[in-house]
Amino acid sequence: MIPLTLAEIAEATQGRLHGDPATTVSGPVTTDSRECRPGSLYVARVGEHADGHRYAASAAEHGAVAVLAERVVDDLPCVVVPDSQTAFGALAREVIRRLPQLTVIGVTGSSGKTSTKDLLAAVLETDGPTVAPVNSLNSEIGVPLTVCRVDVATRYLVAEMGARGIGHIAYLARVAPPTIGVVLNVGVAHLGEFGSTEAIATAKAELVEALPATGLAVLNADDPVVAAMAARTAARVVLVGESAKAVIRAEDVVLDDLGRPAFTLVAAAGRAPVTLALHGRHHVGNALSVAAVALEVGMRLEEVATALSHARAASRWRMEVHERADGVTIVNDAYNANPDSVRAAIRALTSIGTPAGRPRRRTWAVLGEMLEMGPDSSALHAEVGRYAAEHGVDQILAVGAGAAPIAEGATSAGTDTRARTSPDSDAAYSLLRHECRPGDVVLLKSSRDAGLRFLGDRLTQEEVAP
Ligand SMILES: Nc1ncnc2c1ncn2[C@@H]1O[C@H](COP(=O)(O)OP(=O)(O)O)[C@@H](O)[C@H]1O
Ligand SMILES: [Mg+2]
Repeated sequence: MIPLTLAEIAEATQGRLHGDPATTVSGPVTTDSRECRPGSLYVARVGEHADGHRYAASAAEHGAVAVLAERVVDDLPCVVVPDSQTAFGALAREVIRRLPQLTVIGVTGSSGKTSTKDLLAAVLETDGPTVAPVNSLNSEIGVPLTVCRVDVATRYLVAEMGARGIGHIAYLARVAPPTIGVVLNVGVAHLGEFGSTEAIATAKAELVEALPATGLAVLNADDPVVAAMAARTAARVVLVGESAKAVIRAEDVVLDDLGRPAFTLVAAAGRAPVTLALHGRHHVGNALSVAAVALEVGMRLEEVATALSHARAASRWRMEVHERADGVTIVNDAYNANPDSVRAAIRALTSIGTPAGRPRRRTWAVLGEMLEMGPDSSALHAEVGRYAAEHGVDQILAVGAGAAPIAEGATSAGTDTRARTSPDSDAAYSLLRHECRPGDVVLLKSSRDAGLRFLGDRLTQEEVAP
């Protein structure tokens, strides 16, 4: 955090100041009192379950020097505002306004935001100090939390921007105004809340609409809905992808035995080989978006290619591939799920199952519920099951009642795929422990709250009974 006095914080948030205006915040800004450190500002929020104001004393014990609050607290100097979330956003915006050397890059899309921001941060970090969200902090609170981690030395701020409704990204783009915006894809994540894919497209387009004329919109040429957003921005546009109209392209894409893509990165500046350490072909598009940003900020093509090749997965449960000593491969991609990311994971699974020049491996798709899918949820689950069967997955295990239509959809495809259901993770664990044999590849995929990532962790530690 750049040092700010309480007077400056009060001005930025239009809050009322209680306490010494010269109190200076220099430490981390946090909404969790336990994460406060000497010099911290504690942001007290009234949440669904708890009232953050009750933890002001704990914040003080951990070293906080001030509180951004909705009512006066006794324990520390405070700035009182009508709504601490809005005020936190205003504070973040002020931090960015004070740092003209900072380049802010916004990343949105239905799938792959976190993977891409991690890859982008890894590449930009080789060029200058970079701040990017921890995990998936992409909300009205997550973005300000990330912004407040920048300091005078920071060159790049990567902001993951998630949307659950119209206006959300426009808001985040006011909190952290980007000059470069990346839109990865438009799918059906959170379809339940949006109602239609058109609404999702409108929401994602808010990122490029927020860009200045001097900025750059990085758009996926392979997703027509995203490519069409070129008409909705004042900024320059660069199309990335595998299609011919892409200016930054991947050619000669090949996958290794564990689904890791290698390709030739092609741009106006030349061609360079890239070998990703990430699993799944879908990371090619993510990597191209990253390359577009890196080239825009002045990195050389070779530097970009090298940095992409050196990047390792940074956030857990996204295409984590574990090779067990007994020859079973676990692919734990169960951080979250929507139909597009499940299909991407299924393609990764079947590619690992068909290694070039080696015998086919038996594939398992262990799939839990995709949450927030709205009224068509059952049909969307059934389609995913059908897709897996048609792509030659050998064994499908739908875990939990909400996932059962996956098995029905798989069976309706009429292929050799065996599709079954398990009531819960424990039952699935027993079945897999009993039936998995050396050489099998097991994909775990579900929405976060369906919890299959922990089943994946258990299986990673397990070995088949001798
Ligand atoms: N470009 C992509 N297209 C489809 N699925 C993707 C893409 N990039 C990543 N994924 C998959 O989507 C899931 C969510 O990835 P994540 O990076 O956490 O995205 P988000 O932050 O948008 O939710 C993971 O299973 C990941 O493997
Ligand atoms: Mg995310």
